[in-house]
Amino acid sequence: METLTYRKKLLAFIIKLVKKAGKIVVNANTDLSIDEKLNFKDLVTQYDKAVQDYLENSLSKKYPFVKFLAEEGDDFGKVDLSGELFIIDPIDGTSNFINKLNASAISVAYAVDGETVVGVVYNPFNKDLFYAIKGFGAFYNGKKTVVNERSIKEGLVGFGTAVYYDELIEKTKQTFSKVLVNCNDMRRLGGASLDICYVATNKFSAFYECRLAPWDYASAMLILKESGGIITDFDGNELTFDKKTSVVTGNQKSYYELKKLLDD
Ligand code: IPD
Ligand code: CA
Ligand code: CA
Repeated sequence: METLTYRKKLLAFIIKLVKKAGKIVVNANTDLSIDEKLNFKDLVTQYDKAVQDYLENSLSKKYPFVKFLAEEGDDFGKVDLSGELFIIDPIDGTSNFINKLNASAISVAYAVDGETVVGVVYNPFNKDLFYAIKGFGAFYNGKKTVVNERSIKEGLVGFGTAVYYDELIEKTKQTFSKVLVNCNDMRRLGGASLDICYVATNKFSAFYECRLAPWDYASAMLILKESGGIITDFDGNELTFDKKTSVVTGNQKSYYELKKLLDD
């Protein structure tokens, strides 16, 4: 029986694992072996695979009955999303990692029947740790986080370029122009899970990207919601884990401001 104690223990275990996995990322010192996935912009290294293997092996030893949806696998679209599921992005911000920008995250979500109930996002370079359990708030480096009411006029809007998808480049350019004139300033940092956690912790007023995958947002969406923020696709629908989707996020004010700009 899946209880609150079970979720708390699982959270503690995931935190321990992402910290250990973070060492693999930070200490990566052999030459990178880089492979292309969808195209020359969508890359994977041996470290993405090593972190994913480490997390999957460790989690499956303790939770052998929980399924996995992980980025560097070929299970997308094939995995049964019902019941208990771990959703893993081993290195969110692979381009940042390849280019040694020290701004990537490890993201592990635990979902039950298609809804994240435990989420952890960890940046091993600066040790920023974000986590949440559904119904029990979200925490940033041990402190509860609550979104403010800041308008996009007063704050930064983070965005992603959906750069793996040529068909979205025009749309990304158009949305950028519209948002830029209506907000304080914009940022493209290169790791969607961190971007969404930055909305949860009021570093960003809002964030959007024309297409993300479930492993990019599965953990961070719970962290943002538990902080009182909103996250949907551009049409206002709840995010699911069965497909890639547009994502718009914000606090109770900025979400609506940004969504309106993306609608117009
Ligand atoms: C990517 C990053 C990036 C976003 C892409 C994602 P990856 O994840 O989150 O910020 O723009 O859409 O796919 O490939 O580095 O794990
Ligand atoms: Ca990612
Ligand atoms: Ca990744």
